[in-house]
Formats: sequence, C-alpha cells, structure tokens
Amino acid sequence: MRKNTEMFHEASKRMTGGGSAGGRIHKALGAPFYIDHADGSHVFHVDGGDFIDYHCGAGALLFGWNHPGIREAVMKCMDKGFYMNFDSQYTLEFAELFTKLVPTVEKIRLTNSGTEATLAAIRAARAYTKKNLIIKMDGHFHGMHEMIWFNGGCGTNLDEFGETRTVTPAAAGFPQDSEKNVRLIEFNNINAVRHVFEKYRGDIAAIILEPVNYDCGCVPSTAEYMKQVRELCTKEGILLIFDEVISGLRFRPGSAQGFYGVKPDLSTFAKAIANGFSLALVGGKAEIMDMFNPAGPVVCSGTSSGNLMSVMAGIACIKMALEPGFYDKIEEIEKNLCGEIDHLFRKHGIPGHIRSQGAQFAFYFGYDDPRLDYTLSETVKYYSPKQYRNFTRACLAENLYMFDGGGKPFPQHNGFTTAHTEDDIALTITKIDKIFSRLAQR
Ligand SMILES: Cc1ncc(COP(=O)(O)O)c(C=O)c1O
Repeated sequence: MRKNTEMFHEASKRMTGGGSAGGRIHKALGAPFYIDHADGSHVFHVDGGDFIDYHCGAGALLFGWNHPGIREAVMKCMDKGFYMNFDSQYTLEFAELFTKLVPTVEKIRLTNSGTEATLAAIRAARAYTKKNLIIKMDGHFHGMHEMIWFNGGCGTNLDEFGETRTVTPAAAGFPQDSEKNVRLIEFNNINAVRHVFEKYRGDIAAIILEPVNYDCGCVPSTAEYMKQVRELCTKEGILLIFDEVISGLRFRPGSAQGFYGVKPDLSTFAKAIANGFSLALVGGKAEIMDMFNPAGPVVCSGTSSGNLMSVMAGIACIKMALEPGFYDKIEEIEKNLCGEIDHLFRKHGIPGHIRSQGAQFAFYFGYDDPRLDYTLSETVKYYSPKQYRNFTRACLAENLYMFDGGGKPFPQHNGFTTAHTEDDIALTITKIDKIFSRLAQR
C-alpha cells in the first residue's frame, strides 16, 4: 500500500484528515482507502489491486458502480445542459415513480443529503405539531446536525425504563443546551416508548427511528414493535418519522415501512435512491409536507436540490427497483453470501454470526445467539471490535473491502449490490473460509 501511504501523507497537508469526510479512515489501514476507479462490484485501488467491495459507498450503492443504465441516464443529462435550480418533467417523473414505490409518501421535497432530509423532517414535525421535543433511539444515526446527533451511551447508560440517563452531543461545537430538545430511549423496547410518552406528554413533536438500525450493525425490529409504536404515536398525536436513508429501496415492497407494514407520517430517503448521486428526500402525508415553503412556513431549500444529474440517476434507480424480479435477486445473493458466511463461523468454531437484512449485513464477532442482536445493551456486552479489526485487516490482504470505521462497541454495516456476481460470491466465501481458518488459530 505504498502509494496509498504517500497519498495520505500528501492529502493530509491540504485536506483535513486526508479525506473529504471524517469517517473515511479505514482503521485497519490507518488511512483512507484511495481508489482509482470502480466498476460493478469492484473498486480498483491506487496501488493497483482490484477489491470486491462490500461497503458499497456506505450503503449508497445498491445497483453497483458504473451501472450501465444509470450511466446512460446521467449522460442524457449532459445533453440537456446538466442544469440545476430548475425543475422539469424529470423531477415530476421522479416524484411520480417514488410515490408509486413508497405509497405512504404522498408528496416529496428533494434535498442533497440524508442529513438535510432529516433536518427538514424534524423541522416540519415541530412546526406541524407546535411541540418541541424529539424522541430518538440511542445509537441510531440521522445525520451530523445539532437537531438530532446525540448519544446516551449506546446500551450502557439506561435507566430502568429504557431512557438514557444522559443526552450528550455526539460532536463538539453544538449550541449550548441543544441536548434539551431530544430524549433518547432504547430501540425495540416498547415500554420505553410508553414511558417517555407519558413523562413528556404534551411536549413531544415526533419520534424518529431507523426501522432497521444499520448504523449499529444490522439491528432488526419486529412488526409487533413497529405496530405498537405507530398506535402509541397516533393515540398521543406524535409524528412517527422513519429514517430510511439506508433501508430505502432495500426491501420489498416499498422499503422497510412496506416490509413492516407500518405507515410513518414522514420518511427520509437518500443513498440508494440515486445509487450515490446527491439525491435525498423527505416525504410523507400531504398535509404535513405542505408545511414546507412556499406552501407553508418551514423553509427547506438548496441551490442544487433536485439537480438534473441526480434526478436522472434517481429515475433510473426507481425504475429498476419497480421491475419484477429485482428483489428476488437481492434475496438470492443474501441467502448465498450470508448463509454461507454464517456457516463458516460454525465450521471454524469462531464465536459469532452474520446478520443480514435487505442487501446490508453485519458481522457479529463475539457471540452466537442472534436473539441478542435486538438490544444494543446485550450486543455491546459480547461483541468483539478487536476480532472485527483482525478480520477487516485480513480482508484487505485478500482483496476484499469490508469497512472498519473503528472505535465502536457494536458492529458496522457492510452490504452488497445487484452487480455482485455468483463468481464474486463464490470467491468471497473461499477467501473468508481461509481468513476464518487463520483467525481460529489465534
Ligand atoms: C440512517 C441515516 N440517516 C441519515 C444519514 C445522513 O445521510 P448523509 O450522509 O447523506 O447526510 C445517514 C448517513 O450515513 C444514515 O445512515
């Protein structure tokens, strides 16, 4: 990795941390993983190697790199003058397709990133309900802004009701007292929802959650929990916001909300909706969406929002997701890849398992019992970040790219795309077999 090291050295002189985002350092490498180009399921490293990619643009890539259909759509944008700051028949087409794919979304407002989308959703919820407090699930991530990026201890700082004892800004520089606007509870604990709804009755605008919490690995929920959260929100007049920035498009029918059969009031989407092009959105009930300007008083605007290139990519993606058989392929890859890896844990006697849901998965090194995945307080007791570090380091040596952002006491998400071929999967399984056999001997 000589060139990578040299680039890190040079980039660090002019780019903070040597990268364009704080989370770009691969901890097993100690530097960002600089690439030259990407194609299908592969990324081509600056040092010459060709890696099967399982981080997939932090969950943005569902259709693979350099997808021919998306490429064609984006090239069409070049002929049209690659404009932004105007709407067109294409924005309308995207809105029509999206509302067809996700029927709870009656209207949309486009943004450039998931961060902007959750910010807008929370702002609209406060304006609509005329309440202030937001309930968030401890450990869930909704973007880096001061409205919502607070943690309580990720499974280690809960009171007997499932509410965190403290609420702490996840980064420096937040306005004083910003944490007073948010309360944190344990995910998948319906009593915690009941508890805060009663304790803060009359003050709560919304509850926001990732229906599958990928930011702590691949923490699923149950249809029963979701149903009860929905019922409690309706009863109390509290809005339910689903953050589908990662889960969006990954499940049939209509993303995680379709899968769980629950209708949120607002939802946010980004990443896979345009396969990584800068397209995100907040969507939901028309009455709430009409809070946004110019229809209403809540400002949600951006120079490049709805830019043609991203919208064209988005149209191509939604059309593919609507094609018959699209999700059969995802489920088949999931079964082959994750089923085999799970088997390899047992074959080599390594405590651990893999959990997958809708083209994303996480390695749970340290414990076997998947029932413990539902609560972070259990996961953090047994999960081994050290084993995961050893694993991702070994993966790099075998030309497999699994991400390791480091420093977290719970798993990190990886994923696959529809561009991952049977050969990719077979090769990956052979390599992981080899890696596990070495890890088992340590
Ligand atoms: C669930 C979730 N919500 C929101 C965001 C923020 O999205 P973006 O990085 O596009 O701002 C992320 C980013 O990883 C995310 O995982």
